Amino acid sequence: MKATYLGFLASLVFLNAQAQHKTIGQRADSIIHLMTLEEKIGQMNQYTGDWQATGPITPDGDKQNQIRKGMLGSMLNVTGAAHTREIQEMAMQSRLKIPLLFGLDVIHGYRTTFPIPLAEAASWDTAAIRLSAHIAAKEAAAAGIHWTFAPMVDIARDPRWGRVMEGAGEDPFLGSQIAIARVTGFQGTRLGSTDAVMACAKHFAAYGAAIGGRDYNAVDMSDQTLWNVYLPPFKAAAEAGAATFMNSFNSLNGIPASGNAYLQRTILKGDWKFQGFVVSDWGSISEMVNHGYAKDNTQAAEEAVTAGSDMDMEGRAYIGCLAELVRSGKVKESIIDEAVKRILVKKLELGLFENPYKFCDSAKEQSQWNDAANLQVAKMMAERSIVLLKNQQGLLPLSKQTKTIALIGPLMKSVRDNLGFWSFAWPDDTTRIITQYDGIQKKVGAGTHLLYAQGCGIKDTSTAGFSEAIQAAAQADVVIVSVGEAGNMSGEAKSRSNIHLPGVQEELIKALCATGKPVVVLINAGRPLVFNWTADHAPAIVYTWFLGTEAGDAIADVLFGDYNPSGKLPISFPRSEGQIPIYYNHFNTGRPAHGDAPAPYTSGYLDLPNSPQYAFGYGLSYTNFSYSGLKLDKNQVHSGQDIQVTVQVSNTGNYDGEETAQLYIRDIVSQPVRPVKELKAFQKVWLKKGETKTITFTLTSKDLSFYDNDLHFSFQPGDFKVFVGGNSQDVKEAGFTLLDQ
Ligand code: GLC
Repeated sequence: MKATYLGFLASLVFLNAQAQHKTIGQRADSIIHLMTLEEKIGQMNQYTGDWQATGPITPDGDKQNQIRKGMLGSMLNVTGAAHTREIQEMAMQSRLKIPLLFGLDVIHGYRTTFPIPLAEAASWDTAAIRLSAHIAAKEAAAAGIHWTFAPMVDIARDPRWGRVMEGAGEDPFLGSQIAIARVTGFQGTRLGSTDAVMACAKHFAAYGAAIGGRDYNAVDMSDQTLWNVYLPPFKAAAEAGAATFMNSFNSLNGIPASGNAYLQRTILKGDWKFQGFVVSDWGSISEMVNHGYAKDNTQAAEEAVTAGSDMDMEGRAYIGCLAELVRSGKVKESIIDEAVKRILVKKLELGLFENPYKFCDSAKEQSQWNDAANLQVAKMMAERSIVLLKNQQGLLPLSKQTKTIALIGPLMKSVRDNLGFWSFAWPDDTTRIITQYDGIQKKVGAGTHLLYAQGCGIKDTSTAGFSEAIQAAAQADVVIVSVGEAGNMSGEAKSRSNIHLPGVQEELIKALCATGKPVVVLINAGRPLVFNWTADHAPAIVYTWFLGTEAGDAIADVLFGDYNPSGKLPISFPRSEGQIPIYYNHFNTGRPAHGDAPAPYTSGYLDLPNSPQYAFGYGLSYTNFSYSGLKLDKNQVHSGQDIQVTVQVSNTGNYDGEETAQLYIRDIVSQPVRPVKELKAFQKVWLKKGETKTITFTLTSKDLSFYDNDLHFSFQPGDFKVFVGGNSQDVKEAGFTLLDQ
């Protein structure tokens, strides 16, 4: 035994000496050379801590022994500098002392909660989004976390799906820009900084296209739709250097993602040359038995590792079955070595071999609690995420000297609902989170009298509280009513077949409007909701999503004019569940319905207009912006030539404000057909009232390209339209011809 140990020590010393001039890959190879098969498989095994389950927990009390034996490569849902140190010390008792990775769902903030990702996407502000991710990473890394399971980059066209809150909406281009911002925000310029964490692009792939918007459901789509709509944000994340990917629960065209070699080996590790590692989703490897794709865990493990799933999250398929599969010759050990190398390379890049405890600094962790600068960024992000949907007769912004304001609604005084799903509960939340009531109270003058009544619950059907609310409204100069979903009515496993305002909330809005008082409606949700009566009758509507720790202050800033709302919808809002899926970048069909009153024998509904209640890219300001002088620098272009697109944007209203100018194209004739509009660029422009600026976009051949029937990424000669405007519907139009391939 002693000789072995001495031999081992000698090899470590040698390794260390060698490490000075070996590449990371060579160092990983040297470590693998020392590992037993069981130790290799241990690296591919991830368990949850019992701190916060994010999936069905398998009770097995000997996790600590398994850690000491090197049978785990990573843990999730363990947090805190002291706690992670304690567990890392157990890993250092293993034979090879390979450090653990600690992963956590830091989706939109850790100690400081930022707006839900769909809300941040409504800002179209990639710099702000990157900063938000950077702060989340800093706070999480200070708490011992090496790896966040974010960004979720799933395109979502179905708001019944609860996880629409977690992504960036329906558009591949916007989704790609935001994926890049989040990956670079989380990871910083290089892995290993203790102010950064590894990112994880998820859920690979097409999880957002679950049939019926029902979470975990099957996905069935053409390769063209997969490549042109659902893969681009993943490709962008990979090109931005995402350290890891997570596969998805869904099957894609009959093959579960965890066992899908086309996705993981052909596309991700092949075409895209991804060098990181792929972690399964929670138990998704073992769930291939439920899918009916594997007869048992052994076959599931074989399918998954062969298809390129490198780490098994909470599935226990790898730890239970891989060794036998290798020994029986069904799985080559080289496949195991390749997966383990991908995992070890990330641990080496993080610097965990040199110092397994580098992220376990309790003093640094304390320094990140309630950091004023972090909270300020959270408020800025929240303000920019708010979307003004309606503002009749300039009811907003309100005066801070308004004499009496009635504050009504089930979300007006709500606390944790402001954080939305994928947020962390802290003991001092009730004092830390700025409620909407508190934000407004702090904002108004001493002379303003606030009246409050809840009016109704979020989901209950009782109208018993209406009379008190109506009384308060009757005494007020203006009514602000805060309605919507509870924070846990969207998120994972939170699909809803009915996405109307829940309970009797719209009846409450009707009753308040019936008082004749001006009513401002705040809608809090993790998804587009249906609220047609409110859309038609309430004078002012503000979509506040779930805005995080600073929600109340951000909302008050907008309501009283200290921030002029600039948000634009990253997803279409349906008039009815019957319209779903509804998205702006749809095909024209052979019988397109023009306008909202479709002629007979055209593609429309007998009982509903085709148009959404609110369009992709839509959002108002307290001022008005006008577009003029749209020009292309050439109306014929050869392949490889760029086109300069210029347009004047004017602020014709009474407030300084920020506009997000959007550029769309349409490829008029192509095979296969292309959508009636595709977002290809956007620019945020700040304009003082009365100011005009000329903005320029550059269109390249890449912008005109798409994956054709042979999945070649290319463009086709022919006529194109260019649209520029402040949303996807109200646009100026120009055209050009692409002369050759
Ligand atoms: C969950 C989610 C995934 C998350 C993981 C760990 O089931 O699907 O997004 O990162 O498990 O919590």
